[in-house]
Amino acid sequence: MTLSIRKVAVLGAGTMGHGIAQVCAQAGCEVALRDVAEGALAKGIAGVEKSLDRLVEKGKLDAAERKRVLAAITPTTQLADAVRDADVVIEAIPERIEWKLETFREIDASAPPHALLGTNTSSLSVTEIAGAVRDPSRVVGLHFFNPVPVMELVEIVRGIRTSEASLDGARALVTKLGKKPIVVRDFPGFATSRLGVAIGAEAIRMLEQGVASAEDIDTAMKLGYRHPMGPLELTDLVGLDVRLAILEHLHREVGEQFRPPALLRQMVRAGKLGRKSGEGFYVYAKS
Ligand code: 3HC
Repeated sequence: MTLSIRKVAVLGAGTMGHGIAQVCAQAGCEVALRDVAEGALAKGIAGVEKSLDRLVEKGKLDAAERKRVLAAITPTTQLADAVRDADVVIEAIPERIEWKLETFREIDASAPPHALLGTNTSSLSVTEIAGAVRDPSRVVGLHFFNPVPVMELVEIVRGIRTSEASLDGARALVTKLGKKPIVVRDFPGFATSRLGVAIGAEAIRMLEQGVASAEDIDTAMKLGYRHPMGPLELTDLVGLDVRLAILEHLHREVGEQFRPPALLRQMVRAGKLGRKSGEGFYVYAKS
């Protein structure tokens, strides 16, 4: 039976969560956006407004559609309310396994039995996360990319127990959102995070070793390899803390080649997290 996707619950209103909520609402779904704090929800909704404004300015969206998309997103702090009648639940909370497991236990208690349960984890084990629910065959990785409204890929991660029906549901969702799916096996770092952090970490080590300036390392990859952004600019976009967490996980799970560079650790300790904190490898004007 094909999954009918009318209502989506997105858990976590951060950069990824509010981006996912936006694209689901733009695709015609009713969306519940849940975060633990009112402030985080307000920030998430402001992020959606800003992104929609950008689309209106470019003539890609009209004012009526902007209004409809915003009205389709219901913010809430109550997880049970958000997931109660959802067809798809997408978890996009911080990358802490114990938080994810607790969240999936709560989802299991309140979501309808037919709902597809997705996690936006960028490196943690989908199979381990699925162990928190009674029927792990319903759980799949739905890995989106930042900025969500612009990036065309969603990496679907198949846990050891993920069913064919869940994979079909995930493909149907990604297609409905106008994005392209790839399916990867549940292995640490999947395809995209593993390759992304490998280049990012090497760029940071090159900076530590004085091979070239941050600007020149970024220019090398933009002009020499046609990457839309250099690896250091991209680390600033993703968040240095996010990339450090992925590297620490891959270092433990895969091996020495993912040891986090000392410079990255120091910058995170100093609060230089990239665009979101106003400074990373570059300094950003406050928006
Ligand atoms: N919402 C809506 N539209 C947006 C947007 C947003 N948040 N951000 C950018 N855009 C639109 C712009 O309006 C513009 O539209 P146009 O083509 O109609 O003019 C278009 O996207 C391009 O943006 P800009 O002109 O401002 O700037 P660039 O051309 O430099 O593109 C970029 C910006 C899309 C971010 C591009 O540099 C890029 O693709 N960078 C690489 C991003 C990337 O690699 N992301 C993956 C990170 S890894 C990840 O997310 C996984 C996680 O698990 C760690």
